[in-house]
Amino acid sequence: MTATVRVALGPRSYDVRVGQGLLQRAGDEIAPLLARPRVAVLTDTTVAEAHLPAFRAACAARGIAVSALALPPGEATKGWPEFARAVEWLLSERIERRDVVVALGGGVIGDLAGFAAAVLRRGVRFVQCPTSLLAQVDSSVGGKTGINAPQGKNLIGAFHQPSLVLADISALDTLPPRQVRAGYGEVVKYGLLGDAAFFEWLERHGPAMVDGDADLRAEAVRRSVQMKADIVARDETEAGERALLNLGHTFCHALEAATGYSDRLLHGEGVAVGCALAFELSARLGLCAQEEPSRVRAHLRAMGMVTDLADIPGDLPDADALLALMAQDKKVVDGRLRFVLARGIGAAFVAEDVPPEAVRAVLRDALAGR
Ligand code: GLY
Repeated sequence: MTATVRVALGPRSYDVRVGQGLLQRAGDEIAPLLARPRVAVLTDTTVAEAHLPAFRAACAARGIAVSALALPPGEATKGWPEFARAVEWLLSERIERRDVVVALGGGVIGDLAGFAAAVLRRGVRFVQCPTSLLAQVDSSVGGKTGINAPQGKNLIGAFHQPSLVLADISALDTLPPRQVRAGYGEVVKYGLLGDAAFFEWLERHGPAMVDGDADLRAEAVRRSVQMKADIVARDETEAGERALLNLGHTFCHALEAATGYSDRLLHGEGVAVGCALAFELSARLGLCAQEEPSRVRAHLRAMGMVTDLADIPGDLPDADALLALMAQDKKVVDGRLRFVLARGIGAAFVAEDVPPEAVRAVLRDALAGR
């Protein structure tokens, strides 16, 4: 069964389709968007091997011609050189204003292809076909596109909404277990930030979901996407409420920078650790009961997730150095530290001017536990 979540943004509204076997029906799903029967696909070499043949066959069955460029897999692709290559390839393929670009892959490909579509001929439409759990529940929905700069992640980009998102749950079957768990970091974030009942559901069903139960996966993705769609519909450009989606991310970005954006810590793992630290900070500041961070950590542990700083291999810098990395975060406004904190599970809010001393103490204690 396929579920449809509508992202309601007036003339830029679109559907997110969530279900099994969607890539095998991609031709039928995409055909109504096309002015002529052809699409250009941006993907990476790993995803191309696993999913491009099915996508091509589905398009061929509807008479849609497919040209594809497979970039190298990994975060390093999300920079100017591969971005320039992608845009110039789209031009050489003569992709026109009324054509559609397809992003087939995880968050790196979705962000890069979306940004390429945003700037190509001043903007062409694009379809997201996210193949990782992280991309299905977060990065493919909401129109944030872009690439990394030497100065930091995602610092170059544009808001450009897709015209359609096809989240094929079956694509998750080919993901390494670590990638599924990392994506789960973003799933649990939704329960923690705004839906205590969803968090309880995850406490009950999370382990079976991560282990491969397709119905549970579809339900977890649908609920996550619904929450994101509702938030994006109310605050497309992150003037306010959308910042809640950054729960755990200020800690996460500092830890990612400290570990060199390497596979010592995947983004979704950093989000999980960051959520646990954000709840710890909330409890220290007297905003929520001490049981709340314990419950968050117990769930992450039960899921086999990276939970504490002690779970990150290798050395980490001290609390002051981590705090300095946070000061470079996009969420710092006029030098003041902004955090997404919580009054309890499912009750996050944006806190302005969080005392650096409290953050330093949380980090110092977390590092001492290593
Ligand atoms: N990943 C956070 C957002 O889309 O706003």
